[in-house]
Amino acid sequence: MQQDMLRRLDASLMTNLFRTHRIVVRKAKGVYVEDVDGNRYMDFMTVITTAYLGHNPDYLVEAIKSAAEDLIAGGSYVYYSEHLLNATEKLLSLFPGELNRVAFKPGGGEAIELALKLARKYTRRQEVLVTIGSYHGRTTGSLTFHGSRRKEFGPVPPGLAYVPYPYCYRCPVKAESCDECSDSILQLIESYLRFSGNRDYAAMIIEPIQGVGGIVYPPDHFFPKLAALLRENNSLLIFDEIQSGMGRTGTTWRFEALDVTPDIVVVAKGMTGGLPLAAVVTREEIAGVMEPGDEHSTYAAPPLVMAAAEATLSHFIENRERILRNVRETGDYALKLLEELKGRRKLIGDVRGKGLMIGIELVKEGKPAREETAQLCFDKALRRGLLLATSGWYGNVVRFAPPLIVSREEIERAVSIIDESLGEIEGS
Ligand SMILES: Cc1ncc(COP(=O)(O)O)c(C=O)c1O
Repeated sequence: MQQDMLRRLDASLMTNLFRTHRIVVRKAKGVYVEDVDGNRYMDFMTVITTAYLGHNPDYLVEAIKSAAEDLIAGGSYVYYSEHLLNATEKLLSLFPGELNRVAFKPGGGEAIELALKLARKYTRRQEVLVTIGSYHGRTTGSLTFHGSRRKEFGPVPPGLAYVPYPYCYRCPVKAESCDECSDSILQLIESYLRFSGNRDYAAMIIEPIQGVGGIVYPPDHFFPKLAALLRENNSLLIFDEIQSGMGRTGTTWRFEALDVTPDIVVVAKGMTGGLPLAAVVTREEIAGVMEPGDEHSTYAAPPLVMAAAEATLSHFIENRERILRNVRETGDYALKLLEELKGRRKLIGDVRGKGLMIGIELVKEGKPAREETAQLCFDKALRRGLLLATSGWYGNVVRFAPPLIVSREEIERAVSIIDESLGEIEGS
């Protein structure tokens, strides 16, 4: 049945837009999804981290059903709903007190664009610093940051300057150590801020961990130094926590572990358990520059989606300690098993992560093993019942990002599937 459905999808949908797992999913629960032929898979990409507390938890299904009985159409730009009020207060309760204003958008790319508008209008400056290899979406505005994809779709909005990202495993400034790599990049950023262009930087936008870029972690001390540089220059710090937020690395937001409070934080994945919603959180003073008509999205924060956000955020807040403990414990365990695997499997060049945001970088004879990474994620592991996503500047990093409720046994099973699959690829 599945093959026939795939053939019909290929004949009608733009299936060439993105490389997906070639399965048609019928239902999902917890860590598991099931396709229309009845095959079961462990979901270790969590629909790019959206089903972050597992698929279809009962509290979420109930909340959506009950909200649907009362009110479906609506949005925060038309009139308000009780679910919008409750979800907003719950979301803001997860932020430090000064980050006390939020606006909702239907998707991450659009929220990034709103963050840029806020920064530009507030500072009355235009230019923005972005890091090479970052990913902030594929709308024409957010696409600007995705260096390699601009050529065919440009012109993209001007006013961006690119600086390297501290990717220690492949340091772009060829430093000897990770600290040296990050310090050299900070020096470069300082020169940009002080001496380049019109010295007109409204903001710098950065992912605390590059997600699509390959689960790249700069050293923690990079961020407070970066924040100080931007402050000295009166430029804002925008954190894109769309992928790293909502507990994925063992703290609610990654910035909590980095000793910085960004001026603007963009969040999305996880907030609703899978329905489309993104949020831009900032200080009252920054939010205050916007006026009616500066922003609009028909589908921002409809009642059904906000009911899902309310239920998911409530569940997270009530169970936060337990959820974050599980993230840290299972994450440490996964890292230990994957480090051991790295000793055995020559294709694994690097394993890195915090909590359940882990990257496994595959290399062959010192070069990025792009083909082998695709083979692992889209074929070998898939056939053994494990869903993994690819990522990376070179497409050679496996994203290991299960739902935050994953168990040690499921981690063991996933690592052993990766082991067997790599064995098959390596021919041993
Ligand atoms: C860090 C980051 N920013 C922005 C986006 C774009 O979000 P969306 O796909 O909802 O536009 C993504 C999506 O993967 C992301 O990971």
